[in-house]
Amino acid sequence: MKIIESKPDMHEYSLRRRGEGNSVGLVPTMGALHQGHLSLVRKARQECDFLVVSVFVNPTQFGPGEDLEKYPRTFEADRRACEELGVDVLFAPSNDEMYPAGPETYVVQEHLTKVLEGASRPTHFRGVLTVVLKLLNIVVPHAAYFGQKDYQQSVVVRRMAADLDVPVEIRVLPTVREEDGLAMSSRNKYLSPEQRDQAACLYESLRLCGDLFARGERNAQKIKTELQARIDKAPLARIDYVEIVKPNTLQPAETVESGDVALVAVFFGTTRLIDNVILS
Ligand code: PAJ
Repeated sequence: MKIIESKPDMHEYSLRRRGEGNSVGLVPTMGALHQGHLSLVRKARQECDFLVVSVFVNPTQFGPGEDLEKYPRTFEADRRACEELGVDVLFAPSNDEMYPAGPETYVVQEHLTKVLEGASRPTHFRGVLTVVLKLLNIVVPHAAYFGQKDYQQSVVVRRMAADLDVPVEIRVLPTVREEDGLAMSSRNKYLSPEQRDQAACLYESLRLCGDLFARGERNAQKIKTELQARIDKAPLARIDYVEIVKPNTLQPAETVESGDVALVAVFFGTTRLIDNVILS
């Protein structure tokens, strides 16, 4: 496995492999790789001839007071995990390499980024979209892999690629969970043992939501009330939002249909966790 830190080296290497007739895949990450990330890497490995994993803790997607400084950085373990899974290139640029003149130009989306995560984190998605577009321009992959865990991120990235005619297929893969259902996340490390125990309430509440839908409940407000009540049973949980939305537009659903998405964001202390399920 090659480790590349320079943008032109990465670009040239990728173009060369494309020129030789290889399909190129990209898994963008911020490192601290866990089984959720690695499920994307495994799938991409099966589907692409030449596989690039990027590790870059992108400063422009963290708001003031968020966890940029304390975000876990585990490069050596990440390198080993990628090597074991047969990754061809680990692209690990520095901040100066990615933003040599500081960030000035952003990809801004009008509506999709203003709701849900965007309402709580107003500058988050312009940072995500900007860095993802930069990575797509540098690596020029045929396919890029994202997790459903960050459902809104997958929707806004897909929409950006369509709107800006970026010739890439955006692939979205299912959420990988711990045994008790908690979605794997680099931020789970911040939880105290007590918070970690109670954090299972996110997925439990979403499953309850799925059960209600399966039993015929179609009133979004009723389902959300039950969802909220389940989370409120965990004394350390503080709800940021609970929502049921239409896929792709992210508009709130009043009457729930198959394919709609239930999403939750919950604080445990200062740690903010998100999760979602697609109702069917
Ligand atoms: P990061 O949080 O490192 O996640 C990288 C990718 O892994 C994302 O597509 C995310 O949805 C996926 N992922 C995380 N946890 C997962 C889980 N439990 N199951 C399945 N997939 C999971 O998301 C980012 O980084 C950044 O915003 C990035 C896209 C790299 C831009 O900086």
